[in-house]
Amino acid sequence: FNVLVLNGPNLNMLGKREPTIYGTLSLAEIMQNLSAMAAKMGMKFTHLQSNAEFQLIDEIHQSFQQVDFIIINPAALTHTSVALRDALLAVNIPFIEVHLSNVHAREAFRQHSYLSDIAIGVISGLGAKGYEYALAAAQHWLQENK
Ligand code: DQA
Repeated sequence: FNVLVLNGPNLNMLGKREPTIYGTLSLAEIMQNLSAMAAKMGMKFTHLQSNAEFQLIDEIHQSFQQVDFIIINPAALTHTSVALRDALLAVNIPFIEVHLSNVHAREAFRQHSYLSDIAIGVISGLGAKGYEYALAAAQHWLQENK
């Protein structure tokens, strides 16, 4: 299986950015661990972080019929982006939405997501481990459904 991991704006600052909320691991460290886990599972792993909405959308378009599953932390775009939602609908690739923090325990504006209702599932508040749980869930879902 081919898995694509997407990380949205400001996640390149992980480790330095509000560490009490987002943890002390850098994105590179989190993605290295995840890539090692994917390799052990025999999955092909691709990762893109971008601060630009269009780059995430372009990557989703290029994944059409190439990628079996997407794990996405859309970051602030979760709460703003109809375009990201439409891109995911356009390619019809199953995905899990991941947040490091528990968005439901934070400001009201973080409690709406443009993606959650079209996701296979949502993981929020479990820190960097959330990506690993998402990868395990993706493999399980693909074995059951593909
Ligand atoms: C986040 C939560 C979002 O509300 C926020 O804008 C982020 C990160 C998280 O991983 O907890 O940038 O997606």
